[in-house]
Amino acid sequence: MNRPHPVLIDCDPGIDDAIALLMAFAMPDALELTGITTVAGNGPLAVTARNARRIRDFAGRHEVPVFAGCPRPLVAAPVFGERIHGADGLGGVGLSGTSGGLAAGHGVDAILEQAATRSDLTVIAVGPLTNLAVALVKRPDLAGRIARTVIMGGGIAQGNVTPAAEFNVFFDPEAARAVLDSGLRPTLVPLDATQRAPLSASRIEELAACGEGVAPEAGAMLRVYHGNVGRDRPGVFIHDAMAVAVPVWPDLFEIRPARLSVCTDAGPERGRTIADFASAEPNADVVVDLDPAAFLDRLCGELRAFRR
Ligand code: BDR
Ligand code: CA
Repeated sequence: MNRPHPVLIDCDPGIDDAIALLMAFAMPDALELTGITTVAGNGPLAVTARNARRIRDFAGRHEVPVFAGCPRPLVAAPVFGERIHGADGLGGVGLSGTSGGLAAGHGVDAILEQAATRSDLTVIAVGPLTNLAVALVKRPDLAGRIARTVIMGGGIAQGNVTPAAEFNVFFDPEAARAVLDSGLRPTLVPLDATQRAPLSASRIEELAACGEGVAPEAGAMLRVYHGNVGRDRPGVFIHDAMAVAVPVWPDLFEIRPARLSVCTDAGPERGRTIADFASAEPNADVVVDLDPAAFLDRLCGELRAFRR
């Protein structure tokens, strides 16, 4: 059997971030979660750093360090995502587990150190890209040191916080632009992919009621998430979990090279992600197709099979 692949998750939990972390913790044979870095986004940094620890401690994985990173975007004033994720960022759902502290050091330095000591590190970034952008400014050679970067962000056809912009890119468009211009060549999981896989209200209730693994807690968080996005919607998009799925289940995704750019102008286009799939100079690879049913089946299966 191949050894588990080292992965650092940069996140802003956030309910779908929490599901992404649980999914990563659920697959120790495939992924070795070497660290979690947190960033301001769905909530202020103190909230996202606390929630990453709550999930880690609930998962019983105290050995995984959680680092706090950047408390605000590079340029813009922060506009947090509390309406969707609740005031505590995890839908007010109680999670058991002994609480452990934050690791010493800054999240940006943790990314640099982990990339320096592991030649095969994958970084999965599922929040605003501030930490990654600052790390790349601090050490431009980082782009050549990370084996693979998978980013949940951007919406090519449309946004979700404005008609043009997706939340993670809108929160810090200058950071997104810096990351795309760095030579990192990330794999992008945009809204165009994540919005093809809504988890329905009935499947959320199945998770909440099944009593298996971490499904009850995941179901409780997703029920609040669904209420906050609107019960008239057919379900919820578990955006960030798809970014974890891409390296683990490559058979489910079709990926194409593209030249991506981000609008950083003030006004209604701010945060728009533009993709040129015909470019001769691609700077990213974009998930353009997937098997939504298999993704949701496998994700729910992992949450149910989780052993704490
Ligand atoms: C992204 O925005 C956040 O609210 C989610 O956690 C996800 O990372 C989706 O646009
Ligand atoms: Ca997120």
